[in-house]
Amino acid sequence: MKKIWILCLGIALTAVSSCYYDVEEELYLDTACDTLDVTFSAVVQPIIADNCLNCHSSAANFGGVTLEGHNNLKTYVENGKLLGVIRHETGFPPMPQGAPQLVECTIQKIEKWVQEGAPNN
Ligand code: HEC
Repeated sequence: MKKIWILCLGIALTAVSSCYYDVEEELYLDTACDTLDVTFSAVVQPIIADNCLNCHSSAANFGGVTLEGHNNLKTYVENGKLLGVIRHETGFPPMPQGAPQLVECTIQKIEKWVQEGAPNN
């Protein structure tokens, strides 16, 4: 009797894990770039800090541009320059200056946050 239970458990586990694996694979393809939980504090602010504040902290203020803090960044959301410079659109100086363009998924996260109204969350 014990053996049968172990066998059943084994089959059940194999079934569960193979289903799980399939689902995980699908999820990976569908959400290769996860923009579901994009907040200013957890996602956007760290991206700006890592890639932009060297030159755009209030102290550095390169080009007269400060992106430190939500209020300052929001100014550049509202005038359209934030997305213009990171997407390398014509008419905008490509940012981050002197470095490769941000990876697509990083840009998508910022775009998502802008679409949501650039909340201070
Ligand atoms: C190595 C320094 C440096 C880095 C890093 C950098 N910038 Fe800049 N940025 C500048 C300079 C210098 C200017 C002004 C000169 C110019 O317009 O080309 C500027 C201008 C800007 C402007 C104003 C553009 C306009 O049309 O008025 C924005 C917005 C901007 N940067 C955003 C960013 C963002 C966002 C990042 C990070 C993804 C970033 N920058 C990273 C140096 C930098």
